[in-house]
Amino acid sequence: MSSILINVIDREGERTEGVEWKDHESLMECLTRHKFPILATCGGNASCSTCHSYLDQESFVKTGGTNEEEEDLLEMLDDTRHDNSRLTCQVEWSEDLEGAEIEIAPEW
Ligand code: FES
Repeated sequence: MSSILINVIDREGERTEGVEWKDHESLMECLTRHKFPILATCGGNASCSTCHSYLDQESFVKTGGTNEEEEDLLEMLDDTRHDNSRLTCQVEWSEDLEGAEIEIAPEW
């Protein structure tokens, strides 16, 4: 099993370095395992948007950007949606994301 380390900024602006993300987890599963305040009420099906976060631009590109289902939901978020928004339940683990900066989006 492999894992990488990422950095996470919570809704209070507090940054945690060296958060371990294991290869069998989605980014949402990683964040909830580490007890970040993500409700994930839909269980990871791209239908609740409570896992919405921002990725640093470089990492966003590495993930390949949003998928179609995710895009439909993000479109409804209006002002909290940024160019680097992702639903973290749709972000798959990749070794390339080592060191990624993840900022948890405000609650809507
Ligand atoms: S957990 Fe519901 S959209 Fe990601």
